[in-house]
Amino acid sequence: MTTSPLAELSTHVADLISRVHLATTLADLQADEPFLIGKRSVLSSLQKSLGALAPEERKAAGAQLQEARRVVEEAFATHRATLERSARSAALEADRLDLGDVVLAQVHAPVAVGHPGIVAATQRQLEDVFVAMGFRVSEGPEVESDWYNFEALNIPPAHPARGMWDTFYVDLGEPETVVLRTHTSPTQIHLMERAVADDSLPIHSVMPGRCYRRDTPDARHLAAFHQIEGLVVDRGISFADLAGVIETFTHAYFGADISSRLRPAYFPFTEPSAEFEITCTICRGDGCRTCSHTGWIELGGCGMLDPAVLEAVGIDGDEWSGFAFGFGIDRCAQMRHQIADMRALIENDVRFLRQFS
Ligand code: PHE
Repeated sequence: MTTSPLAELSTHVADLISRVHLATTLADLQADEPFLIGKRSVLSSLQKSLGALAPEERKAAGAQLQEARRVVEEAFATHRATLERSARSAALEADRLDLGDVVLAQVHAPVAVGHPGIVAATQRQLEDVFVAMGFRVSEGPEVESDWYNFEALNIPPAHPARGMWDTFYVDLGEPETVVLRTHTSPTQIHLMERAVADDSLPIHSVMPGRCYRRDTPDARHLAAFHQIEGLVVDRGISFADLAGVIETFTHAYFGADISSRLRPAYFPFTEPSAEFEITCTICRGDGCRTCSHTGWIELGGCGMLDPAVLEAVGIDGDEWSGFAFGFGIDRCAQMRHQIADMRALIENDVRFLRQFS
C-alpha cells in the first residue's frame, strides 16, 4: 500500500503558517512568497505528485490540497495585511513626529508677535484719560515750517526765546525755514486755523506726537521724544479751568498720591505761563538722581493763550479765550513705570521691553 502524498499535509500546512508568521517585514514576506504559496512551495510539489494518483483518489486529494492552499494563502494574506498596516503606521508615526516637532516648536518658542511699545501704550492711556475728560484727539505733521513751529506761536525770527528749543533744520527751501517740530504746539495753530476756516469753534483737543530737539540724551531727555499738547478755545475760559484740568489729569493718570504743582514760567505763546511738575515717582519726593534731588519732575508747560497767537490765526480774542498745555509722553511713561533713565526707552533691550507687555 502506497502512502498518500498528502499524508503529512497538515504538518506542512502548520509549518507553512508558522513560516508565514516568521516574516517581520513586508520585504521578508515578499521574498519568501515563492516558498510559501508560489511555485517553489511544498504545496506546488504536492500538486504535481497528484498526477500519480488514480483519478478518483486524485479528485479527493486535489480538493484536500486546494483547501490546504486556501488556508495557507489566507494566513499569508492576513499576515501581509498586518505587516502593511504596521509599515503604514510606522510611516505615519514618522510623519507625525515631524509634524509634532513643528507643533512643539511653536508651543515652546512662539513666533514673537510683539506688543505696543511702552511709549505707544502710554500715549494711548493718556489719550483715554483726556477723551474721558471730553477732549478730542488730533495729530499734526512732524516736519513744520518756521511759521507753525515758531512765528505763529509768537516767536519771531531771532527772538531770544528760540534758544529754548534747540532745533533740527530740514535742508529744504530757504535755509532755516523748515524744521523738525521741536514741540507739539504747532498743531495748536493747525487746529485753530481749521476751526476758523470751518467756523467750528470751540476746540477741546489733545494732540500727541513725536518731536525733535538737538539735545544730548540723558536720564530725562531724548533727542526724539513725544509730547501731548492740549488746547481749549471756548468762551469764558480762565486759568482755574487750566489748573483743574492739570490736577484732574495728574490724579487720573498717576494716582491720588502723586501731586502736581504749577510754577510761574515763560512761554512766548501763553500768558500767564506755568511749568507743570509732579512728585517724582522714583523717590516719592525725597530727591534722587532722576529728579536732580528736587523731589519734583517737570512734565511740561502750560498757560493761557496769548492774544498774539489768537490774532495770528484770526480768532477774536474778545469773544474767545483758552489755554494750552504740552508735556512729555516719554516722561509720563518714565514716571508711571519708575524708569530711572529714559535712555532705556530707545535702547531696544528686549529684557527691558518685555516687562511692559
Ligand atoms: N511747547 C512747550 C514746550 O515744549 C510746552 C507748552 C505747551 C507750553 C503749551 C505752554 C503751552 O516747551
